[in-house]
Amino acid sequence: MRILNICNLKGGVAKTTTAINLAYSLATEHNKRVLLIDNDKQGSSSNFFGVHSYEKPSIADILLNTKRAGEVIEHTEYRNLDIIPANMNLLRAEQIILTDTETPQQTRLKNALVEVSANYDYCIIDNAPDAGMGTLNALVAGDDVIIPIKIDRMTFDGVDIMLDVISQVKTDFNERLVFQGCVITFFKGNEVNKQGAELLKNDAKYKLFQSRIYWTAKVDEASFGRVSVMEYSPRSWAARGYKKLAAEYMTMIAVSESDTKKGRN
Ligand SMILES: Nc1ncnc2c1ncn2[C@@H]1O[C@H](COP(=O)(O)OP(=O)(O)OP(=O)(O)O)[C@@H](O)[C@H]1O
Ligand SMILES: [Mg+2]
Repeated sequence: MRILNICNLKGGVAKTTTAINLAYSLATEHNKRVLLIDNDKQGSSSNFFGVHSYEKPSIADILLNTKRAGEVIEHTEYRNLDIIPANMNLLRAEQIILTDTETPQQTRLKNALVEVSANYDYCIIDNAPDAGMGTLNALVAGDDVIIPIKIDRMTFDGVDIMLDVISQVKTDFNERLVFQGCVITFFKGNEVNKQGAELLKNDAKYKLFQSRIYWTAKVDEASFGRVSVMEYSPRSWAARGYKKLAAEYMTMIAVSESDTKKGRN
């Protein structure tokens, strides 16, 4: 199971939309077995798939070691696509972990996922807009990171700090972690967007994906109907962008997997 983190310290940059559409694409178009993890107390991904609840266990229980991953996973209505839901209990869980220094704090998600890793090809983690204990656990468990970026005046600050967090986690906990790149979301093709895209493209540290996700009202329309934009409006530029992004990501990891194998031989 290859674990992909969708992260950005900034809110509202389309982390959840990216996680949902990548999960949808990998599961339905590429026929991969996908586990989506909602790692945000806002529970947006859980709401989207209609599994938000306080009656059932959630990611908080995994982080507190009170449930095994297999006990928390829910099926979605899509074949090949399961989800670990989140709710506000994650807030409390993060606080408890910080005060519980007896059990390792950062490796809880990683350890919990071992049990289900043979059941899935991909795990996509929809992270909260922070670098708290939940996000840290996700990065420690992960193989890859993609950062969705909405181009505006504050874009670069958040991304640079996120890149620092990723390299810190890589050094301290998880040398496997690969920053695969940034992807532009909400692209409108206006002058500001084009200039921002140029800046990102010309600085190698951002590893800008070729795929761009265009702004379209269809994304909001789709989320009201609880369907991904790829299903609601497959010909929209946002849907085409996510389809391309999924393919670009799969090509990228195929290359890095073959490099790793070569390295071993
Ligand atoms: N390409 C797009 N075009 C138009 N609207 C979009 C697009 N992508 C996302 N949105 C909308 O923007 C809003 C924010 O998106 P989303 O919830 O995915 O961001 P987020 O980064 O996960 O936010 P948060 O930090 O709060 O978790 C949502 O209402 C979503 O429907
Ligand atoms: Mg979100």
